Amino acid sequence: MSVEATAPGKMILFGEHSVVYRGPAIVLAIDRRARVVASKREDKRVYIDAEDLGFSGYFEENEYYALSGKAWRGRNLSALNVASKKVMEHLGVEGGVNLVVRSMIPMAVGLGSSAAVCVATTAAVGELFNGNLTKKEIAELSFEGEKIIHGTPSGVDNNVATFGGIMKYERGQPFESFKLEQQLPFVIGNTRRKRSTKNLVDEVRFLKEKNPEIVDGIIDSIGKISKIGLDALFKRNLEKIGDLMNINHGLLSALGVSTPELDELVYAARREGALGAKLTGAGGGGCMIAIAKDENLSKIEKGIMRNKGQSIRVNLSDEGVTTRRINSGDS
Ligand code: PMV
Repeated sequence: MSVEATAPGKMILFGEHSVVYRGPAIVLAIDRRARVVASKREDKRVYIDAEDLGFSGYFEENEYYALSGKAWRGRNLSALNVASKKVMEHLGVEGGVNLVVRSMIPMAVGLGSSAAVCVATTAAVGELFNGNLTKKEIAELSFEGEKIIHGTPSGVDNNVATFGGIMKYERGQPFESFKLEQQLPFVIGNTRRKRSTKNLVDEVRFLKEKNPEIVDGIIDSIGKISKIGLDALFKRNLEKIGDLMNINHGLLSALGVSTPELDELVYAARREGALGAKLTGAGGGGCMIAIAKDENLSKIEKGIMRNKGQSIRVNLSDEGVTTRRINSGDS
């Protein structure tokens, strides 16, 4: 018997970087998912087959042994080793697992791929050992794995990957999660440039320390955008959402986290009729998002591709983590 679990990626609509200090971020689950199939082993190793990401290997006593791909990839995979071990510890079982990881979420570009993989691993291993984990437990245990990759992440990615839908996150406050009333027409543009969230957060902190009188005001303004933006989202006021996205992008540029490639995709999307466009996530590369009337979405996608971006059409998704038992013979 094995267990398949899936979890969604995400995009940040408003509030990245300011959320590190104060004010909410608004985050949306998307219909690009990561999938993990877990099965039990006789020994205590954690085997990870992540062949479509280009690497596979196993952990024994927390030491990584590469089977294919570079040995340093163990750093990416150690989150899954830790998440699996935390689940077993939580359930009071000892054992080993095989994990087959497949993901439709591009890596390291701000779309929550590592959180989705961690959440799916946690849920799959939990179900494999009949743990009946609640969603809250899945989010918390997977966070232990994510910390290995991101140091001190805000915790929004693992929560949105677990619960799906729309999430409002503010430091020191409980998460608020909402179901979607209707779809919203978004396009993602990927610059394909990978970046480190941690480095970008450090750069903003440094700018803030040098110029608190200006940067504090920018952070407050972004926080206000998130609050007004959530209301516009519930009212499905696309024009308002678009205006707020444009302003949010300008403020993120002022914080120094946009790049020429991101700006090109943002302006291309606006030229092709987007109501609003902004970078999403930490910036420094990664992705931008645009909102538009349905009839303009194809033009925007072409504009993104003409400007060397990868265009990804997404739907928002209410579906958080899912698990399914697979008996041998099933697929
Ligand atoms: O690019 P991502 O998805 O890692 O987003 C980072 C969002 C920040 O606000 C910059 C950092 C955080 O932990 O909230």
